Amino acid sequence: MNATAISINNLQPETFFVTESVQIVHGDVRQKLALLPDNTFHCCVTSPPYWGMRDYGYEGQIGAETNINDYISHLVDVFREVRRVLRSDGTFWLNIGNTYTSGGRTWRQSDAKNKGRAMSYRPDTPTGLKPKDLIGVAWMLAMALQLDGWYLRSDIIWHKPNCQPESVKDRVTVSHEYLFMLSKSENYYFDQESIKEQTADGKSHKNKRTVWQINTEPCKEAHFAVFPRALVRPCILAGAPKDGLVLDPFFGSGTVGVVAIEEGRGCVGVELKSQYIEIAKQRLMAVTPSLKQNFAAEGQTAMKRETYTNPSLNF
Ligand SMILES: C[S@@+](CC[C@H](N)C(=O)[O-])C[C@H]1O[C@@H](n2cnc3c(N)ncnc32)[C@H](O)[C@@H]1O
Repeated sequence: MNATAISINNLQPETFFVTESVQIVHGDVRQKLALLPDNTFHCCVTSPPYWGMRDYGYEGQIGAETNINDYISHLVDVFREVRRVLRSDGTFWLNIGNTYTSGGRTWRQSDAKNKGRAMSYRPDTPTGLKPKDLIGVAWMLAMALQLDGWYLRSDIIWHKPNCQPESVKDRVTVSHEYLFMLSKSENYYFDQESIKEQTADGKSHKNKRTVWQINTEPCKEAHFAVFPRALVRPCILAGAPKDGLVLDPFFGSGTVGVVAIEEGRGCVGVELKSQYIEIAKQRLMAVTPSLKQNFAAEGQTAMKRETYTNPSLNF
């Protein structure tokens, strides 16, 4: 696979070369994106840490800002770098949900089904809002990105039929998140045909609609928000041609890389937590049978090495 042999020399030695077509850069996205060259990726698909929702357990984490405006401005900065590394015809698919103010609670207990919910901190209610207010953080970010120069093209509703139940008695249960589609330029690559949906009678196809009904997909290894492959797949199909390049600056367990491999696209992911990189490697290997054999032949040592160089990469 030629176009996906990513020739980004200055990433070494901090890159994990996972397959012929997927590389993981270990570190803070605020430093690591700077290593990537301009105008490189066809599309970016990502889900950043949500504000005040998860405690990833490290200093200065994005999402743990006490002031929501700082959170928005950190993400705008990160995504400005994403815009630089996107090709001029590139698109950016951003998954994010809204949140509620914490109502003055300063921590949140783990629950048996969802260990990642445990929080040692909860951000204050933003100035001007009240306890119980819905914070339109998804839209705050979308508007800030638009002001920063992005073209905001679609607000897609990801409807989750199997959403988390909530114990609330005075409002309806949240069963959706947003997937914003943005572009770097007015005109951009968009393969509309590849994601068309069937008409109700099943006899023909129509342009994909803005409400996507997709169940969440559990990932047994990860105690954090992993997005489903079915949410990522249309973004990659429409956003990058075969052998094109996809970026995920908040790679987590590597879902974007998994779908990129399945669809014959290359991918670079940035991730801060080495524990998640290990999960991503396992998932990526599971969809790359040839590589699975390589690792089996080399034994566990290769897995433990900080840098695994795949000889078939063109560096
Ligand atoms: C919502 S999760 C992404 C999950 C991913 N979409 C998946 O399917 O597994 C956000 C990820 O961003 C990572 N992250 C948070 N802050 C980061 C930073 N400053 N630099 C790089 N990664 C970061 C977290 O460790 C977490 O894995």
